Amino acid sequence: MRVAGARLASTAVPQYHLTTFGCQMNAHDSERMRGLLESLGYVPADQRDDADLIVFNTCTIRGSADERFMGSFGEAKRIKRERPDVVVAVGGCWAQSQKDTVFTTYPFVDIAFGPGEVNRLGEFLARERIAPVGAFSLDGRFSGELPLRRARAHQAWVQISVGCNCVCSYCIVPSVRGRERSRPLDDVVAEVTRQAADGVVEVTLLGQNVNSYGRDLDGASRATFAELLGAVSAVDGIARVRYMSPHPKDIKADVIAAHRDIAEVCQHIHLPAQAGSTRILKAMRRTYDRDRYLDLVTRIREGVPNISLTTDLIVGFPGETDDDFADTLSLVTEAQYDGAYTFLYSPRPGTEAGETLEDDVPPEVKGERIQALIEVVQATARERLARHVGTTQDVLVEGPSRTDDTRLAGRTQHNVMVSFPGTAAPGDIVPVVIDHSTSTSLSGRMADVPTVVGA
Ligand code: 5AD
Ligand code: SF4
Repeated sequence: MRVAGARLASTAVPQYHLTTFGCQMNAHDSERMRGLLESLGYVPADQRDDADLIVFNTCTIRGSADERFMGSFGEAKRIKRERPDVVVAVGGCWAQSQKDTVFTTYPFVDIAFGPGEVNRLGEFLARERIAPVGAFSLDGRFSGELPLRRARAHQAWVQISVGCNCVCSYCIVPSVRGRERSRPLDDVVAEVTRQAADGVVEVTLLGQNVNSYGRDLDGASRATFAELLGAVSAVDGIARVRYMSPHPKDIKADVIAAHRDIAEVCQHIHLPAQAGSTRILKAMRRTYDRDRYLDLVTRIREGVPNISLTTDLIVGFPGETDDDFADTLSLVTEAQYDGAYTFLYSPRPGTEAGETLEDDVPPEVKGERIQALIEVVQATARERLARHVGTTQDVLVEGPSRTDDTRLAGRTQHNVMVSFPGTAAPGDIVPVVIDHSTSTSLSGRMADVPTVVGA
C-alpha cells in the first residue's frame, strides 16, 4: 500500500488530514475513517500542508454546503500542485452527486467514493497508486465494521439504517444515499454492548428516517423501531438513548410509549416539520398536512407532557406566499418547540422541486422571512426553557464549559446544555438545580449528592 508521498522521505509516519462537512451521519462516518486510517498507521496532521493524505467527507444538502467545501477543496488542489505525491480523497454526499465528472473536473483527486463506500477506504488507498479510484454503489455496507475513533468517550453514534425511501421534493439525500436499508437488530445491540463495555453511557441512533427502521428486514431479524429502542435501552451501562431523525409520518403510538415508559429513552424528539402550510407540505411531498402534524404533537404531549420537541423548517420553498409563511410562524407557537433549525430553500439538482419548480421567492423576501422566523423560534424557546428553572435535572457531563472553563457543561435528558460550577468527570450524570435559562441553554448548581453512572 502506498502511504508515501514527498513527505515520507522526511517523516517516517504517514499523516492524514480529514475534514468533515454535513450531518451526524457524516461525523460518524468520519470517526470510522479516522479509526481505519489510524489502524493502518496514519497519524493526524495539524494542517493539510503537513499531510500525506488529504480526505474530505462531504455534504451536498444545500448549495451552501457545496460552497463551504469548495474553499477547502481549492486548497487541496494547490497542495497537490506543490506536492504531486500527496493523495487527495473525497468521500460523502457531494462526491456521490458528482460521480460522473469528479475525476475530469477535478483532476487532482485520486480517490472519490460515495457515503456507502466508507468501509472500503483502506482498499482504495491500496489501489490508488495504479489508477484513480472511484466507487459509488448505493447499496454499500455499514461503516459499523470499521475500527472507530470516537469524538467523545461517553457518547456514541450508532448507525441503524442508511438511505431513505421518502420522496421529499426538495431533498437530494435519497439520490446520494440510496434506498433505505436497516441494520439487523442483533448487530445494533452488539455494537451498543461493545460501546457500553468501553464506557459509553449515551447512544444516538442514526438514520435518514430512523423510525421506518426494520421494515426491510425479514424473518427472525425483523423488528420495529420501538422494539429497537427497548433493546438498546436494556443494554447494561446505557443510561440514555437518543435518535436522529424521525419522519413525522412514521411516529406511532409504540414510539410515544417508549418515551413514556423507558427511562433511558430521552425526553426529546427532533420532529422535522419543514413548513406549516398544508399547501406547501403537499408540494414538498411530506405526506402529512398541518393538522395531522399538530395532532401528532398533541398525542406526543399527552403521552409525555414535559417532552422537548425541536424541528427543521425551510423558508422560501417555491410558491411560498406571505400566508403560507404565516402558517410556518404560527406552527412554531402552536407546536411549542424548544428549538428549531431554520434553512433557506436551496434548489438541488436532480430533485423534483429543483428540476420542475421555479425558485421564485426573491432572496430579500427569503431573508426577511427567515429573520422573522428566527425571532419567533427564539421567543418560543425562551419561554419553553424557562419551565426548567427551579427543577433539578440530571446532567450528563461533557467537560469544561466552552465559554468559561471554570464551569462544567453537559446536557439534560431534554438535550439542553447546562453549565454549572463543580467537579465531575465527563460521562458522570449529576443532578443540577437549574437557576437560570436563556433561549438555548440553562445554568445552575450541583445538587448535594452526585450520582455517578457506572460507579
Ligand atoms: N433546501 C433547504 N433546506 C433543505 N433541507 C433539506 N434539503 C433542503 C433544501 N434543498 C433541510 C431540511 C432537512 C434538513 C436536514 O435540511 O429541513 O430536514
Ligand atoms: Fe449532507 Fe444529507 Fe449527506 Fe448528511 S446525508 S452529509 S446532510 S447531504
